[in-house]
Amino acid sequence: MTSLSPSDKALVPFVSVDQMMKLIHHISVEEMMSGIADYIEADFKRWELFDKTPRVASHSEKGVIELMPTSDGDVYGFKYVNGHPSNTADGLQTVTAFGLLADVASGYPVLLSEMTMLTAMRTAATSALVARVLAPKNARVMAMIGNGSQSEFQSLAMKTIVGIEEIRLFDTDPKAIEKCAVNLQGQGLRVVKCASAEDAMEGAQIITTCTADKQYATILTDNMVGNGVHINAIGGDCPGKTELAPAILHRAEIFVEYPEQTRIEGEIQQLDPDHPVTEFWQVLTGQAAGRRDDKQITLFDSVGFAIEDFSALRYVRDRIADTGLFHPLDLLADPDDPRDLFGMLQRAKG
Ligand SMILES: NC(=O)c1ccc[n+]([C@@H]2O[C@H](COP(=O)([O-])OP(=O)(O)OC[C@H]3O[C@@H](n4cnc5c(N)ncnc54)[C@H](O)[C@@H]3O)[C@@H](O)[C@H]2O)c1
Repeated sequence: MTSLSPSDKALVPFVSVDQMMKLIHHISVEEMMSGIADYIEADFKRWELFDKTPRVASHSEKGVIELMPTSDGDVYGFKYVNGHPSNTADGLQTVTAFGLLADVASGYPVLLSEMTMLTAMRTAATSALVARVLAPKNARVMAMIGNGSQSEFQSLAMKTIVGIEEIRLFDTDPKAIEKCAVNLQGQGLRVVKCASAEDAMEGAQIITTCTADKQYATILTDNMVGNGVHINAIGGDCPGKTELAPAILHRAEIFVEYPEQTRIEGEIQQLDPDHPVTEFWQVLTGQAAGRRDDKQITLFDSVGFAIEDFSALRYVRDRIADTGLFHPLDLLADPDDPRDLFGMLQRAKG
């Protein structure tokens, strides 16, 4: 007797946006970002065994759609993500994403998840993990330039993982500053609304740039940046899309995720292709030096790399089992005889 309802083999756990939000609150935003940072750190420490490739990008006039695959040999993962800076004017987000983990041995997916929320969580977790290692000791003040979707996540990760106490907000759109300030109320941070990027950087040991513009922009000029700071440059993550004046790059020690991707997409696309950079995973494993002294400018030229998404998905997979915060999704055809796919189709007729 053939059943038309899907068998267990057909079902893949799917985490919807609603369930992801419930999971984040169940764990708490800050604890989950710390947990994801731990997973990213663990995966960065085994960097060499991962399959790595610059993400596959499909550019259009208005934005980019990207696929970000990786595998550790046992588990395969990818994320679909877009970046469309003009979307917000149409009531759409700049960045949306979903992703998948699969079992390498069978090729069967084991998790499908929304990743718009999760990308904000993992990007903030990565920024804070890097800042914990590279920022000046006792950093307490961060300038947050660009107060859009990522900004509250960045602020809270820097609070919980680095110990930041004061966030100084600036955005060219005053409504974004206001939104961010309201969202950060009661979150244990001193929040200061600023009138310019210079004003936001006053007394800051960490400067985060997280703006969206599909062109070479200059959010920070050379004379704005004093010695000894850590710059967390998030927004320059596409060919032709940067945030920092090249002169700053020449003064800074530059840390990257995966150079082959960052040279295409990051701030360093403005430099010679052999300009020296340090791979951050090597700082974690002790193979490369981090900050050398308190005068040095350290720059994390962040573009977002597939392993960070893999780590975040791994974290979600480990945490959903006991919460039930997933739908069993009928994603895979499962014929009674594995070679009788057509027979399965016929049985579904009328
Ligand atoms: N590196 C990563 O891993 C990573 C991950 C996610 C997003 N991003 C990038 O980060 C950027 C921000 O993402 P988002 O989702 O927060 O976008 P968003 O559109 O929600 O917010 C961007 C904000 O930047 C502001 N802005 C634009 N130009 C500015 C300027 N010159 N000075 C100050 N503010 C300015 C806008 O007014 C807006 O409020 C995007 O470019 C996105 O591609 C990077």
